[in-house]
Amino acid sequence: MAIASPAVSGEHPPVLDGFDLTDHARFATGFPHDVFARLRREAPVLWHPPGQTADQEGFWVFSRYSDIRTAAADPTFSSQGGGGRAGGGTHIDDLQTGVHAGVLLNMLDDPRHELIKHLAQPPVTRPTVEQRIPEIRELARDLVTRALASGTCDFQPDVSAPYAISTIALILGAPREDWPDLLTWAQAVAGFDDRESGKVNDQAAATAYAIYEYSQKLVAAKQAAEPAADLMSVMSRQDIPSGHGESPLSEYERHAFFCFLLLAGSEAPRNAMAAGMLALARHPEQWQALCQDRSLIPTAIEEMLRWSSPTPYNRRTTTRDVDFAGAQIKAGQKVTLWWASANRDESVFSNPGTFDIRRSPNPHLAFGDGTHFCLGDQLGRLEIRLLLEEMLDRVAEIRVDGDVTWAPSNKHTVTLHMPVQLVPAG
Ligand code: HEM
Repeated sequence: MAIASPAVSGEHPPVLDGFDLTDHARFATGFPHDVFARLRREAPVLWHPPGQTADQEGFWVFSRYSDIRTAAADPTFSSQGGGGRAGGGTHIDDLQTGVHAGVLLNMLDDPRHELIKHLAQPPVTRPTVEQRIPEIRELARDLVTRALASGTCDFQPDVSAPYAISTIALILGAPREDWPDLLTWAQAVAGFDDRESGKVNDQAAATAYAIYEYSQKLVAAKQAAEPAADLMSVMSRQDIPSGHGESPLSEYERHAFFCFLLLAGSEAPRNAMAAGMLALARHPEQWQALCQDRSLIPTAIEEMLRWSSPTPYNRRTTTRDVDFAGAQIKAGQKVTLWWASANRDESVFSNPGTFDIRRSPNPHLAFGDGTHFCLGDQLGRLEIRLLLEEMLDRVAEIRVDGDVTWAPSNKHTVTLHMPVQLVPAG
């Protein structure tokens, strides 16, 4: 098996057949599963040339399930940065250290990462989020009622996005009167980029700043109020325990936590629900099976997650020279872990290109793996379940009613527009 050398970084490897993984426009027809099937077979550890990256630097692409799991658990591959680089983070292009990298929970290394994650966990454990079922169900019911009343809807902006954003606002403990602003802001941005164009523009930057300003107000309000169990009350008032050699949380870290969670806690769930519902709409026999047998819901949720893989990849930075699966990876080089590819790995999933709500076992990596495994997996699963239940109660059939369009983004797999007709049950 050929491992391309960084020495030929300018050449586009033939195995990619002209597909540039840094060209967001190439993702506008959905995730390129055929490209990755070939990579898994022929070049599972590939050196990708700089393409359209801002810093004009190449990077490694890991596409096999086993390699991705190994790297995700290995501190050699940092989420923060390292290997002598100035920037870091989990996007292919470097993010600024001290602003995103080294601050946001997913772009921070242990031990600080683990200590902060431990602080943030209690408000998002399964028993804790299940206490909010009545409120989350009401959000789902209300949106399904509205969609049914109008007959047709654009599932992402009309249902899955407002549902996911409101749910994370609830869990974060943002006052209800602020939700309209949070909905507007989180609708506009996808990881600080414009959703429709996939590019950072003035409006996206202004929105990111509005979220940041709001986070300052919210943290101050939580610090002035009585302690509560919601996520931002905990993250505004509590601190890293002493004795671990880590400095206390800075105010900026508390603010940045809110900004990150508003987006991380809504972007992936909204996209998983939209793409998952699209799969159910395109497999009406599986929707009917679910309608008749609710015991299939747990495996259906896992399959919706595997199938949609809303976070296609996360990047790491190599902290020391390492030999990985036969490739000589240098300190400071970027490595990308493609969860969406792992989730179609033929050596783990039989018929990986088949959507099957009965699939079991289903050890997908949609929530990532290892050190940075998703903080909100239980909340994400609960959201999908409650929306599914509300729809199964009242929708006989989901009919795709127009062209489905995908965001030009390699960072989030987004069904931007998904016109559907919901046929009422009974
Ligand atoms: C369908 C739903 C979701 C999916 C598919 C998803 C996906 C992911 C993935 C792939 C990662 C790994 C990032 C990496 O390794 O660099 C991650 C991390 C994370 N997610 Fe989620 N996520 C979902 C829902 C949520 C929700 C609802 C929250 C809000 C609580 C959340 C908060 C986080 C946080 C804070 C991290 C960073 C964890 C760490 O660094 O240890 N996610 N998520």
